[in-house]
Amino acid sequence: MAADADSNTTLAIILAAGEGTRMRSSRPKVLHEVAGLSLVGHALASAKAAGAGKIVVVIGPDRPDVEAEIRRVAPSANVVEQRERRGTAHAVLQAEAEIAKGFAAVVVLFGDTPLVRPETVRALAERVQQGKIGVAVMGFEAKDPTGYGRLIMDGPHLIGIREHKDANEKERTIALCNGGLMALRGEFALPLLKSVQSKNAQNEFYLTDCVALACARGLSASVVEVSEEEAQGVNDRAQLSQCEAVLQKRMRAEHLKNGVTMIAPETVFVSLDTTIARDVLIEPNCVFGPGVSIGEGAVIHAFSHLEGATVAAGATIGPFARLRPGTKLGEGAKIGNFVETKAAEIGQGAKVNHLTYIGDATIGAGANIGAGTITCNYDGFRKFRTEIGEGAFIGSNSSLVAPVTIAAGAYVGSGSVITKSVPENALAVARGKQVTIDGWAEAFRARPENIAKKKPSR
Ligand code: UD1
Ligand code: CA
Repeated sequence: MAADADSNTTLAIILAAGEGTRMRSSRPKVLHEVAGLSLVGHALASAKAAGAGKIVVVIGPDRPDVEAEIRRVAPSANVVEQRERRGTAHAVLQAEAEIAKGFAAVVVLFGDTPLVRPETVRALAERVQQGKIGVAVMGFEAKDPTGYGRLIMDGPHLIGIREHKDANEKERTIALCNGGLMALRGEFALPLLKSVQSKNAQNEFYLTDCVALACARGLSASVVEVSEEEAQGVNDRAQLSQCEAVLQKRMRAEHLKNGVTMIAPETVFVSLDTTIARDVLIEPNCVFGPGVSIGEGAVIHAFSHLEGATVAAGATIGPFARLRPGTKLGEGAKIGNFVETKAAEIGQGAKVNHLTYIGDATIGAGANIGAGTITCNYDGFRKFRTEIGEGAFIGSNSSLVAPVTIAAGAYVGSGSVITKSVPENALAVARGKQVTIDGWAEAFRARPENIAKKKPSR
């Protein structure tokens, strides 16, 4: 046994070498997302949460994009290639070197089955460490079993799995199906996988044959039954949206349980990594992309969109606000309607209430940013920062041309275009001076050429 294997831990192998033609996409299937995370990301998350000691992902040849996503989500996972698609058992055997290190259980997950709960992965791994059980399969009762492998039972014992294409009429009436996940007891994994043959309708090496092979060796096989919902795989866009709906329901229920108020939860969309503290109020029609955390008591008004944003306790957002990645809102800060922020640190109690763009900026505590203020952060090539000090006051409709600093306590007159830094407690006004000419309008209307066109109203 190699030094880095642990005979008490689980090896998780995620199969992700499929092509996913029914997605009709230039993107590989496992990179499509639900709840803001790729399908393969969900499988990795599930394996990690189940406590797998090691994870190996089997991918198709020349898929640097899939590999990059795996590295992002699970840097310690191994990635191996399956050069030719010769079936699920063949795919698992691409991880032979790792299996040979001697784990207590080997659990195979599919990269396109994102709703599997960590509890199920754990139950499968535990099952194959009991008695004479060599194989455990995730099973479910299918409303329409067409296409699935059928679980062949002998009383309470699982004795085989028949793929739909290989099944006879009688076997096709069986509703108990294989959900795809399977655990093998570590010590039997390689001998079982290596004895799989490809004599079947698809000329493939079926992982599912391990059940009958285990029984032939005097071991037994067992079913961990789950709901059809949990076993839902993604083969096309319709199933992708069904999985999204199931996950959203699950996640909303979790947030409600944790003390978040949602007026219309069915209109709120969150990501797997969204964290929301207690007593947060979320009004209808809000979207939380990846990387959002919301502090206690914050209020998110209707129609707000957040991603990559950290919101401190007691802050208020929206309605109709957009917080883009890199936004950090301080305690009690206010972001009002039609405000967009990006890479912006907004201090405690600062207010950005109306129709504003704050990008690549730092705003000090208690500052007030008037309606229509724009940080001009981009010259077509590079981005520049705007610094606004504590307690500064930016008059409405100002353009702050970065790089620029408005120091603490300074005032900017409304309608200014600020291109030079403003010192502490100063006033900067940068706009055309107003000219007022008494009686000008009257004289203008009295010109002969204008009298000819005179409108009756004046
Ligand atoms: C598989 C099961 C079937 C089960 C169904 C559940 C087998 C033989 N059949 O059938 O019993 O009811 O899932 O959805 O296991 N893959 C590879 N390399 C390969 C072949 C497959 O990586 O050479 C991967 C695919 O990317 C996919 C998974 O394995 O993630 C399952 O393969 P797929 O072809 O979809 O199997 P099914 O025919 O759906
Ligand atoms: Ca499938």
